[in-house]
Amino acid sequence: MDLSSQKSVRAAASQLLANTSIPTIDILINNAGVMSIPTRTLTEDGLETTFATNRIGHFLFTNLILPKLIKAASTTTTTTTTTTTTKASDSSLAPPTRIINLSSFGHKFSPVRFTDLSLIKLPKELPESERPDLQITEYLTGNSHADEAYYGFFSYGQSKTANILHAISLNQELLAKYNIAAFAVHPGAVDTGIGRYATPSDVEAALQRVKDLGMDPTQKSRELGANTTVLAAVDPRLKVVDVDSGDGQVKGVYLADCKVDDEGFVAFATDRRIAERLWSVSEGLVGERFDF
Ligand SMILES: NC(=O)c1ccc[n+]([C@@H]2O[C@H](COP(=O)([O-])OP(=O)(O)OC[C@H]3O[C@@H](n4cnc5c(N)ncnc54)[C@H](OP(=O)(O)O)[C@@H]3O)[C@@H](O)[C@H]2O)c1
Repeated sequence: MDLSSQKSVRAAASQLLANTSIPTIDILINNAGVMSIPTRTLTEDGLETTFATNRIGHFLFTNLILPKLIKAASTTTTTTTTTTTTKASDSSLAPPTRIINLSSFGHKFSPVRFTDLSLIKLPKELPESERPDLQITEYLTGNSHADEAYYGFFSYGQSKTANILHAISLNQELLAKYNIAAFAVHPGAVDTGIGRYATPSDVEAALQRVKDLGMDPTQKSRELGANTTVLAAVDPRLKVVDVDSGDGQVKGVYLADCKVDDEGFVAFATDRRIAERLWSVSEGLVGERFDF
């Protein structure tokens, strides 16, 4: 499917739902994504392409195919109960039916810009809570991009923040009711096609800057880059995510380097109230309410 097109996502989901040779889905990994598209583009649905692809496509697809995950969760629980009673009765452990969203360290670049999802306004025109982090942008690229309404890493950051918030909402919606868990993963800097929009000289300049700042510019191999995602998907020792902490901040949802990383994210990406707002805005953008 083309994740940037809601029509394409709906067609793929219908096909999958109708496919009787796949009665259940145990693990969904929302992996596909685009990064740093050089200029602002809109999809056929009128959304900024990065947000449409990395957030809205996954949100819609996940919700549409959920019946097959719910079926898997009910089947798995029964099987697990009869074979390994200890595991099944330990409610602090994440259940085996899981949804994994690929986020990124890059979420730190930007919160969700609720008043400017398509990046039309300059950072200074946004409410403070929606402004991109110009310091971190400058730290990594040598330019703060303060005078740009659209910058590829602002849109990437927004979408990757949304991927963490999505995992929080999925836990809220699905964990207690259906025994389905969700996590968000930063895979590390991995040598893949994600940098397709960067020229070789852009990449060289970025790596040099990382070196100048005293950091190790070595990228992970693809095999190592897959480790945290696989761990999030199958490790039986992972704990369930607690979305009910008093201050609205959710812990245990973001993984990096093969472990839960409760230090490596920015607060705007793990706030349950922001996650709830994003869920309802996203329902508006796909023109459908989801009550499971
Ligand atoms: N690599 C890193 O350093 C890094 C770091 C942090 C986070 N991540 C995240 O890891 C995930 C995987 O990225 P990767 O590094 O493996 O990059 P990648 O090699 O570019 O893979 C991305 C995949 O997404 C697919 N895709 C792009 N646009 C799509 C669309 N509109 N509809 C359907 N599929 C689409 C691509 O398909 P085509 O090739 O057919 O276009 C490709 O298979 C991404 O979510 C990325 O943000 C990667």
